[in-house]
Amino acid sequence: MKSHTIGLLPGDGIGPEVTREGLKALEAVAGLEGFAYELIEYPYSGAYYLETKELVPNSVIDEWRELDAVLLGAIGHPDVEPGLVERSVILGLRFGLDLYINLRPIKLYAEHLCPLKNKGPDDIDYVVVRENTEGLYAQIGGHLKKGTPDEVALVNGVYTWKGCERACRYAFELAEKRARERNDGSSGRVTLVDKANAIRPHDIWTRAYAQVARDFPDIETDHAYVDACCMWMIKNPEWFDVIVTTNLFGDIITDLGAMLQGGMGIAASGNIHPGQTSMFEPIHGSAPKYAGKNVACPLGAIGAVSMMLDFLGETSGAARIENAVSDLLKSGKVPSADARSGIATSDMGDMVVERIRAE
Ligand code: IPM
Ligand code: MG
Repeated sequence: MKSHTIGLLPGDGIGPEVTREGLKALEAVAGLEGFAYELIEYPYSGAYYLETKELVPNSVIDEWRELDAVLLGAIGHPDVEPGLVERSVILGLRFGLDLYINLRPIKLYAEHLCPLKNKGPDDIDYVVVRENTEGLYAQIGGHLKKGTPDEVALVNGVYTWKGCERACRYAFELAEKRARERNDGSSGRVTLVDKANAIRPHDIWTRAYAQVARDFPDIETDHAYVDACCMWMIKNPEWFDVIVTTNLFGDIITDLGAMLQGGMGIAASGNIHPGQTSMFEPIHGSAPKYAGKNVACPLGAIGAVSMMLDFLGETSGAARIENAVSDLLKSGKVPSADARSGIATSDMGDMVVERIRAE
């Protein structure tokens, strides 16, 4: 029997609750598909840091390289300096394992979840390919004369040819795959989102994108500045197929995208290095105010499990989960994909599992 070794980082706040529901779906699908898996749990989180003062040691990053995948709940604790543990765990994984793609599908499953007027599931179905190891997240910068009136804060955006090229190539290959799967004669389209008018070094993206595009003559090319992209995401979401963008812009536009899908509670993501250990997580944070209340929406975490299975080659298992979620949302039984749905976290997980088993 095929077996997958999965690292588990439930993390902080609502992380453990939503991860638990993701694991219920994993268990159900493994039984139906006939694969095995081993979970190796890691304690790293803000709460663990407060208790032990321990962040992720390099030896653990090396250990993670040996896993097939990592599943993460959420990281962030209100009593810890902002970003300290996030940089250690989330960015530790992204940078440490060179997970250069952050794949973030924006897909509306049921019309009632969408805040836009007159837009439905046919209009909102695209994927953001967020570059995941460079840009303004590269941690190059610092302070001069900190705490004085003469303070200077500097941060450098890092864009390498290799980083831009591989993100663009991934996006074009994905557009090709999506067009093949749609199989309705429509061609794929990759929209490059940057700010090359105001930030001239973004021109490296323009050129890397143009060079990669030459290898994909059947895919439509397209471009939007990030401010205009936000406008189009609201006005004409049906235009988009695959977006490729920088680390920070990808972070920002996918929160907007999550709301168009129904809420932060539903959006999932994969931090991917094709062919190597990759990490999957809901895009939401630890939401401390909902922690332990059994009200958080676990659909993002469940979606992350589906994306992880797809990455692991368990494509029919991944589809079982996605179909179950889609079916549940289309049933109209879930009024919103957030903490105000009135459905307990654990009940929502059970509703998904029930549908996985009924398919
Ligand atoms: C995300 C999050 C992270 C990011 C934070 C927690 C560092 O917002 O995954 O979108 O900025 O990438
Ligand atoms: Mg974010």
